[in-house]
Amino acid sequence: MDFQMGCDGLKQIAVLGHGVVGSGVMEVLEKNRGLIEKRVGSQVEVRYILDRRQFPGLPYSGRFVTDFGVIRDDPAVEAVVEVLGGLEPAFSYARESLLAGKSVITSNKELVAQKGDVLLALAREKGAHFLFEASVGGAIPVIEPMHRCLDANRIQQVAGILNGTTNFILTKMLREGCTFQDALELAQRLGYAERDPSADVEGLDACRKICILASLAFGSHFYPEDVPTRGIAGVKPRDAAYAARWGGAVKLIARARRAAGGRVALEVSPMLVPASSLLWGVGDVNNAVQVTGDMAGDVIFYGRGAGKLPTASAVVSDVITALTQEGPAPSLFWGPADPGLLLPPSEAPCQGYFRVTGLDREGLELFFPGAFFLEPLEQGEEALITAPATQGELDAAQRAAEAAGGRVLSRFPVL
Ligand code: HSE
Repeated sequence: MDFQMGCDGLKQIAVLGHGVVGSGVMEVLEKNRGLIEKRVGSQVEVRYILDRRQFPGLPYSGRFVTDFGVIRDDPAVEAVVEVLGGLEPAFSYARESLLAGKSVITSNKELVAQKGDVLLALAREKGAHFLFEASVGGAIPVIEPMHRCLDANRIQQVAGILNGTTNFILTKMLREGCTFQDALELAQRLGYAERDPSADVEGLDACRKICILASLAFGSHFYPEDVPTRGIAGVKPRDAAYAARWGGAVKLIARARRAAGGRVALEVSPMLVPASSLLWGVGDVNNAVQVTGDMAGDVIFYGRGAGKLPTASAVVSDVITALTQEGPAPSLFWGPADPGLLLPPSEAPCQGYFRVTGLDREGLELFFPGAFFLEPLEQGEEALITAPATQGELDAAQRAAEAAGGRVLSRFPVL
């Protein structure tokens, strides 16, 4: 890609979408124009904004277009910011932009989780950038530090709180006694939730993000549909109370681990997080990502995981990279999916929390040998933490306990 400044020292970009993040990008570019242009070394102008809607009365109302072809075919546009969300037309626009030699910057988790390998390969072929810092963890720098600062490591594990909406809801419900519905509505009003908030609540958003991090960490594309994913619907205040009694908290955790034989175990689930973990105290809309490298040990990234300006700040930082650095970084890359790399969920190492009725402690000890029992909060109920096992062994123990009259009310992994 040609990074020479135009003769007037002007660099031009386009923004696809003027929703929460798109309007935030315009705001960041305007509010911090001076420092951004100093870093880029020239003026930065948003030449086009693509949106079906009209936005009269804005200082940049005259720059809206509805035809993507105008952007694709304008050689003055060096970089395209895709903040439409969803797979299509985002994928087609990203692909066509790269084919035209323009860099692409996106905050779109679905796009990167489904098509990251394809778009990275195309970007490399064209000598353009495909950048997606904002797709994971909102404002938190995690993609760039992972591929640049930790690239002397074999990554052993990436685990984190990757969805701001559900962390916000759990915090409001479990710490402040809010109802699920009130907490969700507040998250929507604050611009944290997806257009369809079921993607947040059911864990899909966190799943897309852990797939992106796992692809980067382990070098092959991982697809969300292959990852066992549970959302927060099953988390009850009673489980939070047992977690507190045990010395921890319930959090929606997305985790990718290198397991025996070099295979990778991936999952998204509410988990019991011990107070000794740095993830335990992460509340509200904040996200945290803990990366474990074989040389670096544990490194943690923390900050605002959702919201207009935090997300836009990561997008604009990628814009600066795209406009100032020649060609894509070799370390920001992964290949196509390798089906043999994913560990079958039943073989994943696992320690479990169970809340059970219908069997007493003695009865449960038969099925969960070596389990640690928490002091019951209600008569007739038992809560236990199993000894380390595999997911498949815990499934079998649960089936046997249920066949003997037990009823499992809750079950979550322990982080
Ligand atoms: N809905 C997402 C979240 C937005 O709550 O984390 C940021 O990706």
